[in-house]
Amino acid sequence: MVTGHGAQIIAMAGKGGTGKTTLTALLIKYLVESGRTPVLAVDADANANLNELLGLEVDITLGEIRERMKTETPQGMTKNEFMELHINQAVIEAKGFDLLVMGQPEGPGCYCMANSILAQVMEKLARNYRYLLVDNEAGMEHLSRLNLRKIHTLFVVSDPSARGVLTAARIADLTKSLQVDVRQKVLVVNRVPVEVPAALDKHVHEAIENTDLEFGGYLPASDEIFEKEMAQESLLDLPIDTPAVKNAFAIFERFLGGDGS
Ligand SMILES: Nc1ncnc2c1ncn2[C@@H]1O[C@H](COP(=O)(O)OP(=O)(O)O)[C@@H](O)[C@H]1O
Ligand SMILES: [Mg+2]
Repeated sequence: MVTGHGAQIIAMAGKGGTGKTTLTALLIKYLVESGRTPVLAVDADANANLNELLGLEVDITLGEIRERMKTETPQGMTKNEFMELHINQAVIEAKGFDLLVMGQPEGPGCYCMANSILAQVMEKLARNYRYLLVDNEAGMEHLSRLNLRKIHTLFVVSDPSARGVLTAARIADLTKSLQVDVRQKVLVVNRVPVEVPAALDKHVHEAIENTDLEFGGYLPASDEIFEKEMAQESLLDLPIDTPAVKNAFAIFERFLGGDGS
């Protein structure tokens, strides 16, 4: 299991399209630019796209290696050894951080063994990093698939709507049944208008009162992010005085700044 020997684990949660991958990219930018490296980012979304926001190409995913392990492990080699040997192929090296793409989950059937091997190999790999960031898809299945037991910070991302905030609160509650020890859960409400409506603020504060979520802050709807997305350029190149980047960095500073364990 990934207990984070060395690596502090930070994970994303939230409905699809709320901004988890965007926030992950900004978090990588923050950690790299503040010299808190090395960072391993894990794209745990079956429809992986974190690499695109970072301007990186993916050669092979962990899922593909796991498939190869089933048929291509040579005699005299254990499946663990095969995975370990090939996992390095799947690690994309960039400036100050590495990226690992999990790819498609397996089809129906028992995949307990493949996943337990994956978790073991991941645990070993994680020891080489200061931070392990997990960009999830909407569900939380990957957290259990990776067998993450100890998460330092779970960012729960919401859109700026009443129901969005309620969903975020529900997601925060769901993690309780996952048997993961989450040290802090931080709500980030993304794509808000310049003037945050009082009604939204009220919903946010209700959610904070009724759950163990802490309020991280608001991120504005950002023309700069929109333009980068349209031009298919890396979010890592956004100037740090971009309002959305500034807000995100302030949240990271507050919740990760202490750099505790
Ligand atoms: N603050 C923002 N301002 C403008 N566009 C944003 C912002 N946050 C996210 N987006 C855009 O919203 C879409 C969904 O964001 P994404 O991070 O992929 O969400 P998720 O990973 O939760 O599905 C993307 O096109 C992204 O560029
Ligand atoms: Mg995403």
